[in-house]
Amino acid sequence: MRLVKTTTVRPGTRLGKAIYNDNGKVLVNKGVSLEERILKRLNELNITYIYIDDKQTEGIEFKDPISPQLRQEAVTTIKTTLKSVIDEPISSKSFVLEKSVKQYQNIIRNIISELDSNSELMSILSDVCIHDNYIFTHSLNVTLYSLAVGMELNLKPAQLETVGLGSILHDIGKVTVPKEILLKPGRLTDQEFDVIKTHTTEGFDILRNSYSVPLLVAHCAFQHHERLDGSGYPRGIKGQEIHDFAKLIAVSDVFDAVTSNRVYRSAMLPHEGLELLYAGVERQYELNVVKAFHKAVAIYPVGITVELNDGRKGVVVKQNAALSDRPIVRILEENGEQVEPYELNLEEKLSFVIIGCDTTFKEHQNK
Ligand SMILES: [Fe+2]
Repeated sequence: MRLVKTTTVRPGTRLGKAIYNDNGKVLVNKGVSLEERILKRLNELNITYIYIDDKQTEGIEFKDPISPQLRQEAVTTIKTTLKSVIDEPISSKSFVLEKSVKQYQNIIRNIISELDSNSELMSILSDVCIHDNYIFTHSLNVTLYSLAVGMELNLKPAQLETVGLGSILHDIGKVTVPKEILLKPGRLTDQEFDVIKTHTTEGFDILRNSYSVPLLVAHCAFQHHERLDGSGYPRGIKGQEIHDFAKLIAVSDVFDAVTSNRVYRSAMLPHEGLELLYAGVERQYELNVVKAFHKAVAIYPVGITVELNDGRKGVVVKQNAALSDRPIVRILEENGEQVEPYELNLEEKLSFVIIGCDTTFKEHQNK
C-alpha cells in the first residue's frame, strides 16, 4: 500500500487500509473501490491522505503502534470520563474524575508494556482516520508520542507513568470551554482565544483536587502551553520555571496538532511537523526533547513515497529503529523511468539522502 493525497486519487482505485472512526468502526473497508462519491465524501471530511493498494507496493503494510483493542479501550475511557466530567458542576468534576484514575493508570501501564515489546519507531497517521471528536484521539496520540520520547530519554518507569497520565489528561480543562468555541472552524477572535486559554488553569484545578492524581500531573495540564521564552500561557513562565514533563508534552502536543487534519486546514506530513519543531527550538521547545522526538518517531512513515538525492524514487517499506530518517525504501523509479523494484536500506547506504516526499497519485500506480 501507498500513502497518497486524497485529492489526487483517481476514481476506481482500491483503498489499501480501512478508514475508521474514533469508536473503531470501519467507515470504508480495505479493498473497496473508491468511486467518485466516496472520494468526494472523504474530501468533505477533510481526510488529507489515504492509503491505496497498488501492484508495485504489494506487501508493504503499516503497523499501528498499539493493538486496536488497547486503542479502543483508551479512546472509550477518555470519551466516557470527559463526558461524565462535562455534565458535573465545577465543584464535583474532580470527584467524578477520581473514579477513573485507576482505569487511566492501567491503560498507561498497558501502553508502556506494548511499546516496550515493540521495537518499531512511533508512527501515528492520525490524518488517515475520521475523528468525530478530535480531543479524544488527540489525548491518546499525545500520550503515545510522549511515552515514546520518555523512553528515548531513559525516564524511569514511575516517571513514564506520570508523563503518560499527564499526557492523557493534559487537555481535560477543555471540558469547561463552550463547544461553539472549542469546535469553531476558522480563526478565533481574541476573546474566544482567551476562553480557550483557560483550559490550562481549569485542568489544573480539576486535577489537583483529585486526590489520587499526582500533583505533577496537574502541573502538566497547567504548563503544557508555556514556552521557553515566556511567550506561552497561562502565566508566561520561562525556561527552568517550566517542568521538564510539561516541555515534553508541549512538543508531542504541537506535533500531533499539526500532523492531524482539522476542519480549517490540511495535515502536515511528519517530516514537515518535525521541521516546525526544529524551527522553534530554544525559543519555544527544548532542544534535547526535539532531538529525542526526532529519534523516537518515524519521520518517513511506511507507505510514503520518497525522493532520493540521486533521482531515485521509492516507497518506504520498513523503519530503521536507530535512524528515524533513514528507512528501507523499495525503489520504483530512477530519473523518472520505472525500474524493476528493489530495496535500498538507507541505514547502510549513507550517500543517499531523502530530499522530499511525493504524495500525488500517479496513473501507472493502479496498473
Ligand atoms: Fe492544550
